[in-house]
Amino acid sequence: MNPRATAMQAFQNRFSQLPLYVARAPGRVNLLGEHVDYNDGFVLPAAIDRATCIAFSPSSTDRTTLVAADFGEAAQFTPGTLSSKTQPDGSPLPEWALYPAGTAWALGEAGLSSPAMLAAFSSDIPRGSGLSSSASIEMAFGVAWSKLGGWSRSPMQLALLGQKAENRYVGVNCGIMDQFASACGEAERLMLLDCRSLEYRSLPLPENTAIVVADTTVRRKLTSGEYNDRRAACEEAVRLLKRDLPDIQALRDVSVEDFNRLSHTLPVTVEKRARHIVEEIERTRQAIPMLEQGRTQEFGQLMNACHVSLRDLYEVSVPELDTMVQIAQPLPGCFGARLTGGGFGGCTVNLVASDQAGAFAQSLGPEYERRTGLHPEIYICQASQGAGLL
Ligand code: GLA
Repeated sequence: MNPRATAMQAFQNRFSQLPLYVARAPGRVNLLGEHVDYNDGFVLPAAIDRATCIAFSPSSTDRTTLVAADFGEAAQFTPGTLSSKTQPDGSPLPEWALYPAGTAWALGEAGLSSPAMLAAFSSDIPRGSGLSSSASIEMAFGVAWSKLGGWSRSPMQLALLGQKAENRYVGVNCGIMDQFASACGEAERLMLLDCRSLEYRSLPLPENTAIVVADTTVRRKLTSGEYNDRRAACEEAVRLLKRDLPDIQALRDVSVEDFNRLSHTLPVTVEKRARHIVEEIERTRQAIPMLEQGRTQEFGQLMNACHVSLRDLYEVSVPELDTMVQIAQPLPGCFGARLTGGGFGGCTVNLVASDQAGAFAQSLGPEYERRTGLHPEIYICQASQGAGLL
């Protein structure tokens, strides 16, 4: 069953009525610009055709009741209990409920109402796969509360509120990319976001190509601290580089030339992390004219270079991701392959000639399984519309 049907069914089972509304928010895949969003860089994600759907109605009580259809669990909260992350009976909110509760909390902080609702939700974005299942939950609930609360905000403002929920409530110090892509995505388009100015525009997908997502099935949670550590190393690099470059605000402001000149002033690990960022931001700058001019081959080379950098400098890959990329890159029709999202498991993104995408997927899956013993999920994905009511 698709997430919409699953959510509607779970709603009816639990509340014995039909939901009034359904909200949907997609996951995302990022083609280039990895870990640069919290360094004021540029990112190039697309919203995908996998999403979280919420079936919902206003509640007649002051209590929000949520059903996570995919877990067969329910949770409740009221605005008064949000800050302590407990349910009305005093038990802790389950982990999955932190995303909707955090969204309600962030809305409250912004003076926006999140009226009590009855809701059931379901997603076909694999959790912890680097495809932003959590951002999609935040954005879907943002849309749902905007409907029930009778207020409206731009998709970008909704994305910022979702990021705040994740940073301050859930406790992951993520950047803006995932919520942005889920809220602002456009069908058949790549989204180019300047994470400093928050200006964005869409670009065509490279002609005659398909985006193939390959899930290693290896999972690691971002809350494990590695993500926040990487972010701290970037901040440390800025602090140290300011000794010679007093005007910089973020690694975005450091040119590759300046970085090469000053890299010896940084501790080894900080230097590696910062080099990835400075060079990755440069790659995204180069990518824009390539995409506009249809230079797909060269764009694919940048994707490949990004993987090497994430593996060796930023050190967020795992052997299974490396294996998936290693098998993919030489396959016929493959322009570029790399890990996508935060890393430490999850998916790779592959840009493949459309007429060879089927054969590509058929070769990649079995070979990965042969080498790792893991059964991967591989699919050709469509760039889709951002969050909204259905
Ligand atoms: C996670 C975060 C994003 C971004 C990516 C890496 O998905 O949520 O903000 O930093 O990792 O590019």
